[in-house]
Amino acid sequence: MKNTDKREDGEDVKHLDITLRPSNFADYIGQETIKKNLHILLTAAKERNSPPEHILLYGPPGLGKTTLAHLITKELGANLKLSSGPAIMKVGDLAAILTNLTPGDVLFIDEIHRLNKLIEEVLYPAMESGKLDIVIGKGPSARTLQLDLPPFTLIGATTRISLLSSPLRSRFSGGVYRLQYYKDEEITEIVKRSSKILGAELSEAAAMEIAKRSRFTPRIANYYLKRARDYAQVHKANIDKDIVDISLNLLEIDDYGMGMSERMVLNSIIKNFGGGPVGLNTIAASIGEEEATIEDVIEPYLIQIGMLERTPRGRKVTEKAKEYLKNENK
Ligand SMILES: Nc1ncnc2c1ncn2[C@@H]1O[C@H](COP(=O)(O)OP(=O)(O)OP(=O)(O)O)[C@@H](O)[C@H]1O
Ligand SMILES: [Mg+2]
Repeated sequence: MKNTDKREDGEDVKHLDITLRPSNFADYIGQETIKKNLHILLTAAKERNSPPEHILLYGPPGLGKTTLAHLITKELGANLKLSSGPAIMKVGDLAAILTNLTPGDVLFIDEIHRLNKLIEEVLYPAMESGKLDIVIGKGPSARTLQLDLPPFTLIGATTRISLLSSPLRSRFSGGVYRLQYYKDEEITEIVKRSSKILGAELSEAAAMEIAKRSRFTPRIANYYLKRARDYAQVHKANIDKDIVDISLNLLEIDDYGMGMSERMVLNSIIKNFGGGPVGLNTIAASIGEEEATIEDVIEPYLIQIGMLERTPRGRKVTEKAKEYLKNENK
């Protein structure tokens, strides 16, 4: 299965998401606008005693989409049914999921951009009017059977909103919400909360250092916290700023929070393409990384910290990047 999140801070750390995942809105730090909007949506729906309209959550990996889906479900006192775009391969798979829903269920479809067209078309009437159209038989004797579905809320999540067809996007009438990168202070707070859950004490400066390097992303911050904790344990030390520095340097995470992948992208553009502009596919080929990973995970961060620019003719490194890597590569 293709996964755009297979990195040092991706796939292998998803298991720790579960223990550190906030289980109520109070512990879900940041994303204030989304929380306010959801609060209204959920409160109104509860008052009307009907499920809220469908919700789409999008944004880079590890910012809290799946977590939000859990929190929304809990707030509604509903059941969560989990699926994903690549798991729903046939129309029959979707039909089975939909007909097994009970009234008020929340259906979460992760990586919803990977649903195929035929399945999307079955989803449209289901989202709009709670109807499932099934075609029975083939050829001239084929007929359509229409089933009424129990009222439900679909929550779609995607890292790639641009790949979602506009008819699908427009059916999320409960709102299309973009998760934002977190502020350093927010990540610091998340790290402190996680350290309490893990029973690993850490200094304020250590929490801030982790935040500074974690690419504004809670999942990465939690991962770094765990690595610093391991290092401190092995060396019988407390988790202070020095320990964070050492353990993150060991992981080759630099002061800007860039890892090997980020530096490879920048170095390749500088060394092979004169600093750019150069096309995404060319960069991908030159460093042996998937285009999707560069576009969804690596590039947004590099742009955010002012190392990379997107121009109509391709990607270009900034002066800041050239300056920084000149010193790094000495
Ligand atoms: N707002 C938050 N407050 C505290 N912790 C958070 C928050 N958002 C995310 N986290 C932490 O980060 C982890 C990753 O979040 P989550 O799995 O929800 O991300 P995601 O957006 O679904 O990522 P992906 O696109 O890879 O599926 C969570 O398990 C949780 O520990
Ligand atoms: Mg997720």
